[in-house]
Amino acid sequence: MYKDLLDEIQSLVIDERNFVVNASNFVAHLFSKMPDVSWIGFYLLSEDSLLIGPYQGKPACVRLHKNKGVCWASVNKREVVNVDNVHEFPTHVVCDAEANSEIVIPLIKNGLIYGVLDLDSHSLARFTHDDALNLRKLVDLLVNASDMYAIGKFYGKAY
Ligand code: SME
Repeated sequence: MYKDLLDEIQSLVIDERNFVVNASNFVAHLFSKMPDVSWIGFYLLSEDSLLIGPYQGKPACVRLHKNKGVCWASVNKREVVNVDNVHEFPTHVVCDAEANSEIVIPLIKNGLIYGVLDLDSHSLARFTHDDALNLRKLVDLLVNASDMYAIGKFYGKAY
């Protein structure tokens, strides 16, 4: 599945530099192709919060306050955070009471972090090490194709 997804995402972002445009198609495509994913979307750093960006799924928390939850853990570690059971993650921020597992991938370009990609599932332990590796590759494709400087400036912070 991921080999096709990498090719498809590459062709979706190749001619465009605007991050919001590319990110919108990115989440729409992954949401239509990935089984057992209840929500997928971006949170972008803005001052001391993560603000919701393009997403697919039910409406979700719009602002994640600093240092709470899985998304902020990924920002602070600058690493993929894969949580098999969100109810066991101490500061987990509940946006959908039915979500049971979650994976978060940081958006990093040239050493700066701009936000995260967040995926939720109603299943426990939905995301594997292979998902983590390949989602990271997909996110790298997206940030490398997009003008991250412009989106960082628009949202207010990249660090
Ligand atoms: N659960 C996330 C918040 C975002 S929602 O899952 C869409 C967190 O703990 O950061």
